[in-house]
Amino acid sequence: MQISPIGVFDSGYGGLTVLKELRKAIPQYDFLYLGDNARTPYGTRSFRVVYDYTLQAVKYLFSRNCPLVIIACNTASAKALRNIQQLDLPHLAPDRRVLGVIRPSVEKVAEMTRNGHVGVLGTPGTILSESYPIELGKWSGGKVKHVVQEACPLWVPLVENNEINTKGAEFFVKKNIKNLLNKDENLDTIILGCTHYPLLIRQIRKFVPNDIQILEQGEIIAEKLIHYLQRHPEMERRISKGNQIHFQTTESVENFNEKAALFLGQQVNAETTHF
Ligand code: DGL
Repeated sequence: MQISPIGVFDSGYGGLTVLKELRKAIPQYDFLYLGDNARTPYGTRSFRVVYDYTLQAVKYLFSRNCPLVIIACNTASAKALRNIQQLDLPHLAPDRRVLGVIRPSVEKVAEMTRNGHVGVLGTPGTILSESYPIELGKWSGGKVKHVVQEACPLWVPLVENNEINTKGAEFFVKKNIKNLLNKDENLDTIILGCTHYPLLIRQIRKFVPNDIQILEQGEIIAEKLIHYLQRHPEMERRISKGNQIHFQTTESVENFNEKAALFLGQQVNAETTHF
């Protein structure tokens, strides 16, 4: 029987931090993970390119029978989600849904901040899109008053190349965190606005003072997805519940299996796909 899993898409390995939390919170569902490892990173690419790549990925996941797709990538959520939801879905698959990671994070940070001073770390694409300041302005109910941002162009390549626990990673993490902290001395919450960044959390914690909260997205996406499925039983019913998880990568399977197993803490048997 054909399964109808929740599709989880990222440019590479970062979305695994979201998948991991989804599996913890709602293991009963089937999942299909797609990493566009051959074309990662997206963070330095233009609006048009990120939109094209993300739309291809969404179409592919639809062709694999996913009724619901989570874009577990901030860059793609910032640059492609709105167009896909508003322009493509209505004619492509009006009965399916594509959700992103920015809006849930914004809603959560509004609950977390005490003084309204929020910092955002992200890829150059996410930061330049201004998506976080715009969405925080719209959806934080006035709770977030001051937003500063810092682009971290080297963090994703460090993760993708498994340089997480090296002096090189420490150097760049320290540099970007210091830059962010210098932009607002009253920061009380920092959003890790890139799904790759939780993989660097040990390095990040070294340089963020203890009284500043750090928002990692995985758990929040899981929490918000549970609420979404409660509010949309017609969608919930369509997702197959067989506890299965499948992995697709646009790059070599050997590399993917090795690194994904490291990030997920479980063995992975991916297949290569070209779309
Ligand atoms: N994981 C992606 C994000 O959350 C970024 C990775 C990339 O630059 O491709 O922004």
